[in-house]
Amino acid sequence: MTDAMQTAGDTEIFDRVESQVRSYSRSFPRLFTKARNAKIHGADGTEYIDFLAGCSSLNYGHNDPDMKSALIDHITSDGLTQGLDLFTNAKRDFLAAYENIILRPRNMNYRMQFTGPTGANAVEAAMKLARKVTGRQFIVSFTNGYHGVSLGALAATGNSGHRGAAGVTLSGIHRAAYDGYFGPDVDTAEMLDTQLSDPGSGIDAPAAIIVEAVQGEGGLKAASADWLRKVQAIARKHGALLIIDDIQAGCGRTGTFFSFEEIGLDPDIITHAKSISGMGLPMAAILIRPEHDIWKPAEHNGTFRGNNHAFVTARVALEKFWKNDRFEKAVKEKGDHLASRLEKIAQNHGLSARGRGMMRGVNAGSGERAEAICKECFKHDLIIETSGPHDEIVKVLCPLTIEKEVLDAGLDVMENAFATVFGQSHLAAAE
Ligand SMILES: Cc1ncc(COP(=O)(O)O)c(C=O)c1O
Repeated sequence: MTDAMQTAGDTEIFDRVESQVRSYSRSFPRLFTKARNAKIHGADGTEYIDFLAGCSSLNYGHNDPDMKSALIDHITSDGLTQGLDLFTNAKRDFLAAYENIILRPRNMNYRMQFTGPTGANAVEAAMKLARKVTGRQFIVSFTNGYHGVSLGALAATGNSGHRGAAGVTLSGIHRAAYDGYFGPDVDTAEMLDTQLSDPGSGIDAPAAIIVEAVQGEGGLKAASADWLRKVQAIARKHGALLIIDDIQAGCGRTGTFFSFEEIGLDPDIITHAKSISGMGLPMAAILIRPEHDIWKPAEHNGTFRGNNHAFVTARVALEKFWKNDRFEKAVKEKGDHLASRLEKIAQNHGLSARGRGMMRGVNAGSGERAEAICKECFKHDLIIETSGPHDEIVKVLCPLTIEKEVLDAGLDVMENAFATVFGQSHLAAAE
């Protein structure tokens, strides 16, 4: 199709040719042509503020100039694109940067396994390895956990809409209650410990406990530090591995590189995907404590475990943003600002705000209302989505590199959208 045929805003081909399964494009049915940091441009010239950021795969914004130029250099010098798991200079340089900038300063001793390029691929590898290490089958995952939609990861995912599409029994998981699931007075970690300690509970000894420190898709619930520490202790006590799924909450989203850093956890396996490549290129990996790295060569294989373009941009991301604490401090400041503005929006309407760092949102009280708010935002050129079991949370996931004025401009749109929707009587009533 020529440019002339693809007229501005022409989206008819997607309805005709692309599968019904598409989702985000239903909320934002425009033709997008360009993007830079926290702004996306439509073909008709409209400039949108991006509070979705590739669902946290663009923590450093769209088209970071340093990542882009390193990638262009790599391509123009005929650097490898696809490398299976061959040794390449791009992979070597990424691993060296990861070791020097991320692992060593944090006293972390891990091996890195590159999996297929999606988050679900990393979760599958983590769960398979935990089963192999322990010789056990069951994995504990939590209510409202989201770990991807391939069968193994989907079994660990809570959302019934996604689970319903599996078409087969989803097995190998014991579901436990996340922090606060039964309200503030019930310690769900203690409940889990009681069940695992009771030979009559009917729950087999688990291979692993997989947990998100902040649940992204599940509705931005941030577990308390105390609860997460207890979960780690329970894993240790019962001979299970602790898998932290840091696919959405990692790479700075909560203010530190890892979501559990300030909590002092020491996971057996950590999953990475989404923003690890820096520029939105497909790349995923798991970090494995060396004693658990018992794979036989090629036992968990895959063609696309060597995206060298992603290794190049991932290295630049580490060197640019994580060599000192400047970026981390800036993210924390922006996170505090975001928290106070969301708190105000919530208070205006008797709602509650939630989340941690720059992974925050407002509980609009119902999916219908949250959808109306996001639609209203889009009318005013803000791209923002919902999460939660009823899609009731209006969720801010803007790039961490967003300029303060752009962040405030987006939050102004959000504030007005809440006021507009709460001014509509059929949506204003409390649920
Ligand atoms: C915590 C977490 N784990 C796993 C996944 C799955 O990643 P992907 O969609 O790349 O398969 C996601 C995606 O949102 C996620 O948030």
